[in-house]
Amino acid sequence: MVAAVLDIFSRGGYAYIARYLHVVVGITWIGLLYYFNFVQVPAFAEMEAAARNNAIDKLASRALWWFRWAAVATVVTGLLILGLQRTADGSSQLSNMDYFKSLEGISIATGILFALTMFVNVWGIIWRNQKIVIANARNVQAGGEADPAAAGAGRKALLASRMNAIFSLPMLVFMVGTAHFPYNQILPPEGSKRALYWGVTIVIWGVLEASALGWIGGTKPGGTNVLFDTHKNALITGFVLAVVWLFLFSLVLAR
Ligand code: HEM
Repeated sequence: MVAAVLDIFSRGGYAYIARYLHVVVGITWIGLLYYFNFVQVPAFAEMEAAARNNAIDKLASRALWWFRWAAVATVVTGLLILGLQRTADGSSQLSNMDYFKSLEGISIATGILFALTMFVNVWGIIWRNQKIVIANARNVQAGGEADPAAAGAGRKALLASRMNAIFSLPMLVFMVGTAHFPYNQILPPEGSKRALYWGVTIVIWGVLEASALGWIGGTKPGGTNVLFDTHKNALITGFVLAVVWLFLFSLVLAR
């Protein structure tokens, strides 16, 4: 029985198991991201300071633990799929640069670009700043002085979190699309089309991330930061970008 099951999975190089685990931890990460954006932030805005500090201490800190480790597990299992899946010549996708010139390879590379940016935002911006917010909430609860840096730290974390909610929508277009797009060609697209696709992709991605970091337009609401001003704006921006990248992918790379 066990041997029969192992036999079925070994035919795909166990990539199926990595894929299953990847989706489990991926939905844990993105589910918590949506909870923070659509539930916790609006609820905290309406709460009294004392209740909010208690919720930051007891609830948000726990949610953030699952959130950041689910992000690690998603990256690890995602790389595992790439390592275990084979290309036509039997080599691993991860070690075959020709794979990344194929439509499937370009698709997953785009998804990974967004997902890795989101991962860096989680550990480098959100968690780094949330540590300041949590420490402040605990200190105030214990009767200490409020940290004047806490509000600014919360704002930086919020911008990165809304950026991640936006990126999650085009990211999933490519995660899911890699195996399921109704491709109309099997030959890799020409180099000039690939260059155009990546050029436009990197520019839009770079401007968005630079805005979320405050390098473009600062960190204050309004102006170019309007897409981060409410979770509704972030959702609309994310769905618009999902469509933009779908068009870019199919129009630029199609024969
Ligand atoms: C750097 C991080 C990530 C890497 C390296 C990665 C890598 C991959 C790879 C290699 C695949 C298989 C593509 C294929 O051949 O079909 C995949 C599929 C997928 N990934 Fe990711 N991924 C990452 C992040 C995420 C995140 C954040 C999510 C969020 C839920 C996610 C959800 C999915 C889903 C739903 C699939 C499709 C499964 C299917 O169609 O069978 N991934 N990912």
